[in-house]
Amino acid sequence: MDLSDAKEEVKKAADIIEIIGQYVQLKKRGQNHIGLCPFHSERSPSFTVNQDKQIYHCFGCGRGGDVFTFWMEYHNLSFSQSLKDLAERYNIDLPGYKGLPEEKKKAELKELLFKTNGLAADYFHNLLARSAEGKPGRDYFSRREISQETISRFQLGYAANKWDGLINYLKSKNISLDMGAKAGLLIPKKDGDYYDHFRDRIIFPIFDLNHQIIGFGGRVLGDSLPKYINTPETPLYHKGESLYGLDSAFRNIREGGLAIVVEGYMDMLALRQHGISNVVATLGTAFTSNQVRRLKGYTKEVVVLFDPDDAGREAALKSFPLFLNEGISAKVLVLPQGEDPDSFVNRCGLDEFRELLKGAIPIFDFYLDQTIARMDGGIDGQIKVLGEVLPIFMEVESGATRFLYVQSFSEKTGINEAIVWEELRHWEDNRSERRNTARLKSRFFSDQDPRKYGSDLQFLNLLVHYPETRDAFKDKEWELIVSDPEIIKIIRVLMERFPSGGDLGRIEEFLVSPVAREQLRVILMSQPFYGKELVNQAVSEFAQKIAKIKISQSISHAKAEGDMEMLNRLLKAKQDLDVDKKGI
Ligand code: GTP
Ligand code: MN
Repeated sequence: MDLSDAKEEVKKAADIIEIIGQYVQLKKRGQNHIGLCPFHSERSPSFTVNQDKQIYHCFGCGRGGDVFTFWMEYHNLSFSQSLKDLAERYNIDLPGYKGLPEEKKKAELKELLFKTNGLAADYFHNLLARSAEGKPGRDYFSRREISQETISRFQLGYAANKWDGLINYLKSKNISLDMGAKAGLLIPKKDGDYYDHFRDRIIFPIFDLNHQIIGFGGRVLGDSLPKYINTPETPLYHKGESLYGLDSAFRNIREGGLAIVVEGYMDMLALRQHGISNVVATLGTAFTSNQVRRLKGYTKEVVVLFDPDDAGREAALKSFPLFLNEGISAKVLVLPQGEDPDSFVNRCGLDEFRELLKGAIPIFDFYLDQTIARMDGGIDGQIKVLGEVLPIFMEVESGATRFLYVQSFSEKTGINEAIVWEELRHWEDNRSERRNTARLKSRFFSDQDPRKYGSDLQFLNLLVHYPETRDAFKDKEWELIVSDPEIIKIIRVLMERFPSGGDLGRIEEFLVSPVAREQLRVILMSQPFYGKELVNQAVSEFAQKIAKIKISQSISHAKAEGDMEMLNRLLKAKQDLDVDKKGI
């Protein structure tokens, strides 16, 4: 079975709307489905998926492709792995499919890393669950009121207090120590030997959305520092990209339309154990836009629980612009002094926690309160705050929301509302001036000038949406009327591979240039430029354009050769063509 057979098999069974719809909230809009792009920041949807052609394209960032491209980009996997994942998902056998050699190596490495992580998790978990050595871990979890069920559900573990516990286990499983080091589990010494990275710590495996282990967190049992260590950057684990617990929470988040975000492993586990199923943890780093984008695929409502210390407040403040930029309405709950979610729910129980949750305040109010609290008195202080919040107000798209923001800002600061509005307009004028200049510049200096390539796009649009017209241009002379080299590439593939129709969802396979791929997707996603009734006319106009250019070329040739008879005949033909054209 070769690559394109394998792809076809999977494509027949897979539905791009179903696959992408799992990770991005899609709404039907005309012939397409649209949603917020998971690959860049945006508040209004430009991420577009087309079911007929089984492709997606983001009109904001230009990323796009087919179901495999999505899987690769979203999960950060190789093509071969994506093909395998999707085939497995739809129960498709791929007998003898070998994969691309250059990808195979990377895919094999990742697979081995997953395997190594899986084995390590088994080792840590078994140690905790049933060995004498695991007693400190068991005692620790029971002190922290973590149940057996939670331990097995989240595959929690314990790393023994020695330098070679995992080393010996990996050896017994024929995993090379070098692989252990690549997975971030072992640390190489100068003499070529290794030692265990996690020692005398309780262990939290971190899963990806496919429930495979990408890394680990480990907490000390006592008060020594650092309190937590994590897997370093590996091909599987990238700090700030994943959310702890998302794999087991995303369905509930989608169903309930709400995500609760906490900072720590123990907070996430404690809340889950009390039956709160829609909670994930950011793991210490301030919220990243990657994490927000992951979440927004499931919900537009988020409550963030921050510890009541300075670090927690700082993290909340930093996350405000992130949520604003992603179009998510977030609320903030600052816990009572001295509590974190874990201690609170264990001390007060679920009902009180739910009650507390009701008191979450919109992140904007929180942001404003915090900013004002830091405001120095007097006019200088007011001016400084104004300078901080105006750029944020300008990002607010909804007029009604902005109105409320300005109102409450002026109430809270005592700055006259009229002044805020005036300043806002002033800022906006400045900004639109900058934008206009940028747009004008790009219009005059870009080689993608729409006037130059407009007819190229129309011609391509015609060929794409009306396969029957391709035959009229099969003799290659169409190249005379197309000037954009990227569009020439697309039309060549179209004419050679799909001369009279066929499933254009596959066409990207034959196009190497990323610019051409993007250009093509935009056309595939867009409506036909010519209505059905105009197709014949369009074909003959393009044909005439070609004929005219050919005649002009021959005229130059005849002139150069001094062939007067030929020249006369050509000039006559040119005249006829012009007359014809007026007749349409
Ligand atoms: P417990 O003390 O076990 O309840 O942990 P916690 O989750 O309450 O810890 P804390 O509020 O101090 O930190 C929140 C999260 O930040 C933790 O769960 C970790 O993910 C992360 N974190 C805390 N301390 C460290 C550290 O020293 N190093 C790293 N890498 N992360 C940390
Ligand atoms: Mn805690």
